[in-house]
Amino acid sequence: MTKDTAPETPDRLDDPIAAQPGYDETETRIALSGHPIHAMSVAFPIALSFCLLGADLLYWWTGDPFWARAALWAAGTGFLFGMLAGFSGTAELLLVRGIRSRAAAWTHAIIAVTLLAVLGTNWGHRLDGYEEAVLPYGLLLSGLGAVMVAFTGWHGGKLVFDYRLGTSKGN
Ligand code: HEM
Repeated sequence: MTKDTAPETPDRLDDPIAAQPGYDETETRIALSGHPIHAMSVAFPIALSFCLLGADLLYWWTGDPFWARAALWAAGTGFLFGMLAGFSGTAELLLVRGIRSRAAAWTHAIIAVTLLAVLGTNWGHRLDGYEEAVLPYGLLLSGLGAVMVAFTGWHGGKLVFDYRLGTSKGN
């Protein structure tokens, strides 16, 4: 009778992704004097997405058209600044080998692009009449945008603080 022998388990399991060349190369390339442009630019779409929700809620509460016009501007500028942040983030993702080899960076990109689609839809929806656009669909889109921007920002923070992506290792 032949005796079954269990295959030998190696002492150490190597992650094939971590073995890729350039896996540890995660320093920012899209930067001004070493300061990552993406990190500098994300503050604007984040703040404007929350201003948009606030303006919609104030319009709902007061009926003052000022808030509907403020919401139109917050939606447009939030979307355009979000696109700018998206370009710097995408350049970083594609150009830095250690960033593009990590799944978490691609997860962040997918969440962020979905957020940009929601912001763009919200802006476009208001262009044919900013007052009528608020209730209910403008407000609903703003609520969705606020939840998504919170998630996108939190996840981007994870890339920096947990994985140290886009940071400088010089000091
Ligand atoms: C659309 C494509 C996007 C891509 C491919 C992308 C990619 C990245 C990458 C690779 C990082 C790591 C840090 C770095 O390398 O600079 C990052 C960080 C971050 N991202 Fe994005 N991003 C995108 C859009 C956005 C948008 C639209 C927002 C928010 C509105 C956002 C919020 C953040 C935040 C808050 C951080 C952390 C920054 C820090 O704390 O220094 N990202 N992103």
